[in-house]
Amino acid sequence: MEMIKRPRRLRGGQTIRKMVRETRMDKASLIYPMFVVEGTGIKEEIPSMPGQYHYSLDKFPAALEEAAKAGVSSVLLFGIPDRKDEVGSSAWAEDGIIQKALRLAKEKVPELYYITDVCMCEYTSHGHCGALCGHDVDNDATLPLLARTALSHVEAGADMVAPSDMMDGRVGAIRKILDENGHQEIPIFAYSVKYASSFYGPFRQAADSAPSFGDRKTYQMDYHNVKEGIKEALLDVEEGADLVMVKPALSYMDVIRRVSEAVSVPVGAYSVSGEYAMIKAAALNGWIDEASVVCESAASIYRAGADVLITYYAKELAKYMDEGRIG
Ligand code: PBG
Repeated sequence: MEMIKRPRRLRGGQTIRKMVRETRMDKASLIYPMFVVEGTGIKEEIPSMPGQYHYSLDKFPAALEEAAKAGVSSVLLFGIPDRKDEVGSSAWAEDGIIQKALRLAKEKVPELYYITDVCMCEYTSHGHCGALCGHDVDNDATLPLLARTALSHVEAGADMVAPSDMMDGRVGAIRKILDENGHQEIPIFAYSVKYASSFYGPFRQAADSAPSFGDRKTYQMDYHNVKEGIKEALLDVEEGADLVMVKPALSYMDVIRRVSEAVSVPVGAYSVSGEYAMIKAAALNGWIDEASVVCESAASIYRAGADVLITYYAKELAKYMDEGRIG
């Protein structure tokens, strides 16, 4: 049979397959989300996210060391406070859970890079991502609260802040307050293209942050849209975002692709709690091979255009990358 072009030639063995791979990954691009809580002696598995834990501060450094040992270099911190109020004032408290966690982490495990999620929903009694005006979040009244929270994180040692609230103008407000206080060097990783997604369900259980009424659709994006996502990403870059994020990841590959082509800053993708929970549940039932599915989904997200991946599987992926299983 006469056939000059045979694509299978480049798939003939592992060496050549790896040689011509189109998507390359590095564990330096992984970010591992972690949850800290008040109290002592707590390392409690999150029911909706088997394998992920709530840590009280005394148990937290060991968990950070474990992540570092697994090859993870950056973590994204979420705090669950023990008191909430209308405006979420414990988000910026000097002795807030994140502020205490940061000071401890920087002292005990300084080799890690610390990113904090900046949002009000874990701290407000109503569970919305900002201050309320009637039954909706008041955009402009929320900006100073977010800015103040971001500044307090940086003052407690955060290396980077990641606003996830989806208020208009928050990146500019945060950049301004950081600069006014001499923190010009701290980057902002904006959750720019964040959809109102049911894939956050397990996280809201983990972070105790489900809205007590309504939903987040007046601030998070409608999942039918992609041009709007490009608008959001471009606006955030204009306001000073150093990295932009698309969230969730697996159902939004087209968005990752379009955004990565539209901006000239690194693009992160957040493979969220629901994505983790679906893979974990199927794996625990013996329906899929967990490691293979984790590798395949991660590679797909990078292939779509992500430069950075936020994932609850970061420790496992760092290992798989080291082993050459993917990468
Ligand atoms: C805070 C925030 C959420 C997530 C990250 N930051 C929840 C939400 O917006 O409801 C979701 C993360 C995940 O599902 O893994 N606003």
